[in-house]
Amino acid sequence: MQTAPQQIDRSGNMEERGWWDLWNTSYRAKDNLDTIASQLFAHVATVTQQATQGQPGRILEVACGAGALSRQLNFSSYHGLDMSPAAIEFAQKKMEESSQGRPSTATYEVADFHNWPPPADPVDLVLCVDAISYFRDRALVTRKMAGILNNGGLLILTTINPVVYSRIRRVGGVRLESGPVNRWLSRRELHDLILQAGFSIERSYTIMPRGNMGWLRIVNSARLNEAFGPRCAAMFRRVKERVGLGQYRVVIARKG
Ligand SMILES: C[S@@+](CC[C@H](N)C(=O)[O-])C[C@H]1O[C@@H](n2cnc3c(N)ncnc32)[C@H](O)[C@@H]1O
Repeated sequence: MQTAPQQIDRSGNMEERGWWDLWNTSYRAKDNLDTIASQLFAHVATVTQQATQGQPGRILEVACGAGALSRQLNFSSYHGLDMSPAAIEFAQKKMEESSQGRPSTATYEVADFHNWPPPADPVDLVLCVDAISYFRDRALVTRKMAGILNNGGLLILTTINPVVYSRIRRVGGVRLESGPVNRWLSRRELHDLILQAGFSIERSYTIMPRGNMGWLRIVNSARLNEAFGPRCAAMFRRVKERVGLGQYRVVIARKG
């Protein structure tokens, strides 16, 4: 008997937890399913390594999804939380498989960060990848991140850059990206949010230039970018990242 294809509710009215289960099982059911996300995780892992000077510390990842980033990090302790039970189940299973019976210091938990009881011991680093826009109360969330950190502790956060994201034409496939988000954060809004929570911003930049609609179609055209060889193409890429034409913004901020 043929079953009807699963209907995706793109209206944003779907119950939040169910929607995130659907998102995680669609996009994170395997590591490396999504090349864009893999690039993002690799970048965050490298930046984390540099920012902590290779000293593995205590890490909390807020909205860790299926835990793909955690599997690329060094840490003395790692705790990931996410409101999607399907994502956490996947993260736990993967960690058990990779630890092959050895006790692992990575732990995962299903929780809504808004009302998650903060741990008694502060952490050295809070990570939040592609999630800040989805929280109902972003000011509470960033203040809470600051509260969980040691003085001098780091926040590494990435989020969609709406300037680029709104200019990506997608063809085919299932589109789940809008979901419960009705408004992305501008650079100014994101910075204000982080500063008001008591952080100082050490770096803020964009990565992974993309976009094939409007003026970005010309800026990113392969003909223009590759016309002068690979070195110039790499230089164009760096310039685009610097001027804010990357798909993701990365912010590194320090508490206090
Ligand atoms: C776009 S996904 C990114 C997940 C993961 N960081 C990744 O890059 O694969 C956003 C995640 O935020 C989580 N999320 C949204 N609101 C949350 C909340 N209030 N508390 C905890 N997690 C939340 C969702 O369940 C989802 O897994």
